[in-house]
Amino acid sequence: MDWLNGNLQRAFRANRGKAWTAGLESLDVEYLESGPLQLLSGSIPPSLRGVFYRNGPARHERGVARYSHKWDADGMVQAFRIGDDGIRHMGRYVSTKKHLNESAADALLTSTFATPVLGMNALNTDVDEMNVANISVTMFNNELLALWEAGSAYALDPKTLQTIGVKDWRAGELVRPFSAHPKIDSSGTMWNFGSDPINGVLTIFKISNRGQVEAFKRFNVEKLPPIHDFAVTARHMVFLMPPMEFDTERLRSGHAFARASAWRPNLGTRVLVVRKDTWTCKWHELPPMAGFHIGNAWEDSLGTIRLDFMGAQNPTSMFSGWTMMAGEYSHAKGAVMTLAEIRANGGASLELVDALEAEFPVVDPAVVGSRYRKVLCLERTLSRPANLPGWDAVCMFDVDDRHMNSFCFGDGYVVEEHVFAGAPGRGAEWVIGVVLNLSSRRTELTIFEASNLSAGPVGVAGLPYALPFGLHGHFHHAHSR
Ligand SMILES: [Fe+2]
Repeated sequence: MDWLNGNLQRAFRANRGKAWTAGLESLDVEYLESGPLQLLSGSIPPSLRGVFYRNGPARHERGVARYSHKWDADGMVQAFRIGDDGIRHMGRYVSTKKHLNESAADALLTSTFATPVLGMNALNTDVDEMNVANISVTMFNNELLALWEAGSAYALDPKTLQTIGVKDWRAGELVRPFSAHPKIDSSGTMWNFGSDPINGVLTIFKISNRGQVEAFKRFNVEKLPPIHDFAVTARHMVFLMPPMEFDTERLRSGHAFARASAWRPNLGTRVLVVRKDTWTCKWHELPPMAGFHIGNAWEDSLGTIRLDFMGAQNPTSMFSGWTMMAGEYSHAKGAVMTLAEIRANGGASLELVDALEAEFPVVDPAVVGSRYRKVLCLERTLSRPANLPGWDAVCMFDVDDRHMNSFCFGDGYVVEEHVFAGAPGRGAEWVIGVVLNLSSRRTELTIFEASNLSAGPVGVAGLPYALPFGLHGHFHHAHSR
């Protein structure tokens, strides 16, 4: 269906009667600001003070043109400020080069992840011309960073959300691609990577807690696939490389990036383990799996690395965005909680927790790279109707005893990513996130006690509008550095 001539937009509008489409409306204002949010139930814990930031694609349309994939649109960063006087929401588009150019022209001009613009050769275009800064947002060294995957980070003002510009790391080197899933280990060091499947180069960055790029290394990897996430342990970095073969010729012939990868299960899942100190590499192999997100990893005294990730039998979710953008949905089973063991002697094995179809795994920031038990994720329960997209429950999964502590919102909601939140020194006491209420067609902020999700939210605050479905977020406590 042609996205440019209004056909896709007309199909979507014909489906507006489905309440979930409120999460895929295009937001055509640059800035959103609420008054104090209405407390719909419970209360806001006194120890929870700070800002919950989220990022996600929001400008799905300009004129009659509508993007063909849910991940294509320009990123809008949301901030929920939680203070003694209540909660206020603010949202602002990241002023990327693309967003500014297209706002001036009032037209979609630039090829994106899954939607190609005719006549534009992505191979000859600087990647930051296409940067939509729409995947994640994180606070590091008192700087708010909006993150994409294939280009640079953008620096934002944490108070106003105004864009400062492409993050200048003063490294004498392009710090890109800079993935949306950096990891901050117990030393305060930020580790990140960039996957460039066009040139077969995987780059790793080590950034001090003062924001200085201490080291980086570029590795040439044969048949490097797009990689979305990675893990760190005390001594290693771990990359899961799904059996996707990137075909540069398809990109050259006008296909979008998302259509330039082929699923090749015979390749298996390659696992690259890189030592943090010497950058030496070791390869392992696992059965073919499509894995986007890793919750966490740690290694024991024998050097065995254990990690959890959301693994699917194929990359369906990558391609499901097309029909959703027309307001259609038919569920196919996606990723399930998967536990991997990577042994120092070269062996590796998987365990699929088939009962937990889930995504968006996160851990308490204090245990990144260390021994851990609890992974917070979104769950899609078996009772969710097949024509309703997304997740209906939040779940705390214990990687030791496989116990699940869940709260299901039911069919009247689409649940979005939830993250750990808490005051420094008190641990992550709380869980915070957003949901789309399908009855009111408005977004709600929900707060849970981390140790007891199944008791339901301790506080729910309502926004006066629906926010576009977002991706990843970060809670920054008022007393954090
Ligand atoms: Fe992600």
